[in-house]
Amino acid sequence: MEAIVAEGISKVFKLHVNPSQSMKERLVRLGRSQTREFIALQHMDLTVQSGETLGILGHNGSGKSTLLKCISGILKPTTGQIRLRGRIASLLELGAGFHPELTGRENVYINAAFLGISRQEIERRFDAIVDFAELDQFIDEPVKHYSSGMYVRLGFAVAINLDPDILLVDEVLAVGDEVFQMKCLDRVRQFQQEGRTILVVTHAADVVRQVCNRAIVLHHGEKVADGKPGDAIRIFREHLHGSLSDTAPADEGPLRITAVEVAGTRGGPQPGIESGDPLTVTVNFTADEPIEQPTVALSVVSPEGQTMYAADFDLGKTALPPGNHSVSVQFTEVPLLDGRYTLNSRVFDRLHTDSAATRAGRDQFTVLNPGIAHGVVSLRVGDVRILPAHDAPADIPPQASHPTDPKGI
Ligand SMILES: Nc1ncnc2c1ncn2[C@@H]1O[C@H](COP(=O)(O)OP(=O)(O)OP(=O)(O)O)[C@@H](O)[C@H]1O
Ligand SMILES: [Mg+2]
Repeated sequence: MEAIVAEGISKVFKLHVNPSQSMKERLVRLGRSQTREFIALQHMDLTVQSGETLGILGHNGSGKSTLLKCISGILKPTTGQIRLRGRIASLLELGAGFHPELTGRENVYINAAFLGISRQEIERRFDAIVDFAELDQFIDEPVKHYSSGMYVRLGFAVAINLDPDILLVDEVLAVGDEVFQMKCLDRVRQFQQEGRTILVVTHAADVVRQVCNRAIVLHHGEKVADGKPGDAIRIFREHLHGSLSDTAPADEGPLRITAVEVAGTRGGPQPGIESGDPLTVTVNFTADEPIEQPTVALSVVSPEGQTMYAADFDLGKTALPPGNHSVSVQFTEVPLLDGRYTLNSRVFDRLHTDSAATRAGRDQFTVLNPGIAHGVVSLRVGDVRILPAHDAPADIPPQASHPTDPKGI
């Protein structure tokens, strides 16, 4: 059964052409403002079956929020039609739908009324909402005094406690603290088991992998992928990479890095590996002068900008003559989890560090994690087993017990 059917939807926004022009210039134009059309969504078809959890990926400005707003009815698509089956609740932008001057309690009632829910029904659910949002002491405060985390908690609590058949969630899960995020994800899973339909916009690939059974990728307002979460994540990363790679700086100086090759186990246009696989980095450089004590430094930076690894590799005391050289560094095992990592390289002479050549932000590799783990690094797992019950008499030494064979775990 179909929960959402969107056919040929487009959204065109009118943009003012010279937003920086002065008031005088605008007056001279006698109020005739020049506009340009911007297509935020291009003729999109999307059908979501009841009970599906659809992840929506795409980089900034690709049209994700516009799509959800069209589905929720906040925006009217310029062309096309959307049919929905059942009650819809959405958690879109931060604080959207809240009146800052009113209290949390008043906002809950207004939000519910907006969703067509009767006063008796909301009264019955009120305590559950406040409880889920953990806003007991603050519910009678005006929401303008709330932190962004408190806004999200209240918005999410309202959306999920109003018994929607379709739930739309835009990014906001990332705002709350980790404990609250876990609680939201648990509730999303419960919703899935109840057969409800969920659409989640997120930049977090691991959220898509964990909770979605299907994902789409938007790129400049078009749907460029629709399928299994793992495939969509890969395509999303390829598009993201494409838009970052035009920002390469020129290399100058007596020592220049000419190319860096990252060789993983996965072929194709994107160097990639699976967690735990080896990775070889080859740095090619040209020196105009001899390098007395050559050193290559490499660092690996996460999508969030955190340095995951950095090291200098001393290439010994033998000087390298002027000319072209290649140095390869073999990592026998890369224990990173899911992500697109940036590799920064540097070549220098330990005795003349001022002539260092740096290449940053230009080389990337992808790690795909075929397992169930998520987080930052992969931990090796040994035995996983159920231990004997704790209520055994304390004086029996542990070796006297008979652990169950962990086979099948
Ligand atoms: N009301 C509006 N008026 C004009 N342009 C708009 C409006 N809303 C969105 N846009 C433009 O439409 C494009 C798509 O915006 P949208 O908010 O859907 O992107 P997004 O994929 O949600 O991005 P992000 O990841 O940054 O949230 C953007 O270029 C944005 O500037
Ligand atoms: Mg958005």
